[in-house]
Amino acid sequence: MKHLLGINELSTDEIEDYLEHAKFYADSLENGSWDKNKLHNKIILTLFFENSTRTLTSFDIASKRLGANTVVWHPKISSVHKDESFTDTIDTLSEMKPDAIVIRHSEYGAPSFVANRVNCPVINGGDSWHEHPTQALLDALTMIQEKKTLEGLNVALCGDVAHSRVANSNAHLLKKMGAQVKVIAPEFLIPHDPKGAFPLDGIEKFTSMEEGLPGTDVIMMLRIQKERMDKSLIPDTQTYFKDFGLTQERLKIAKKDVIVMHPGPMNRGIEIADDVADDPRHSMISRQVANGIPTRMAVLDMLIGG
Ligand code: CP
Repeated sequence: MKHLLGINELSTDEIEDYLEHAKFYADSLENGSWDKNKLHNKIILTLFFENSTRTLTSFDIASKRLGANTVVWHPKISSVHKDESFTDTIDTLSEMKPDAIVIRHSEYGAPSFVANRVNCPVINGGDSWHEHPTQALLDALTMIQEKKTLEGLNVALCGDVAHSRVANSNAHLLKKMGAQVKVIAPEFLIPHDPKGAFPLDGIEKFTSMEEGLPGTDVIMMLRIQKERMDKSLIPDTQTYFKDFGLTQERLKIAKKDVIVMHPGPMNRGIEIADDVADDPRHSMISRQVANGIPTRMAVLDMLIGG
């Protein structure tokens, strides 16, 4: 049984395979040439225990673009609210025999736990600050479309790296594919635990945007994950923006053709200025959202397309 639980456990060949399929579906969506019944009669169950706009909706649309049916399970109207345990919930839903499960959960490792109990492929839609593999794949597709290759690309992960599953998955993917990854963040938002989910080896760390941005091809801004940290650590938002916000002025420090990415949801005016987020010369934020569909079509096809 093949699952997609994290980028850390994928080989470079497997990542390349996912990216080639994602590129195929991105091109196919432009010219209408994909098999619209590829997943006919398949049922995709989405279990989102945490909120989502992009991931949940794009898995739903991707499934339907391939002819699958989706069942969107909502925790708020489930028997979890009658104290049914997580394990009993998973066992119950598994008995209904979905063809694939997409899960997002605030517990680190919840998707692996589910994968060990059910009889279908499981896709991690984001677990705690561990991994968000489909986000890293769609980010990589976006970088390749814009920069042709990941090999040798100079990528800055900026902001709350310490609590970001997006940063972890991207760091694993980019390092495996030969990019040069660096972190720019206040000291307390830089990961330090060698046993943590972030791959520390070979990653340069900066505590100043001015020092870290020169030579950068890709700036990936990250949201402050207030829900995952001691709130007393967070400076006021104006101070944070003054020190670490991405502004037009700071953009000029990076390479002239730098691209700006953000997985969303964005905190405008905290980690990124409005005129940077909406700058058509540099911002790839809308493209990232659009690339969520072909990337998730590719993942579903590769896991249950036969
Ligand atoms: N990037 C991302 O995971 O967004 P959502 O939380 O809206 O799914």
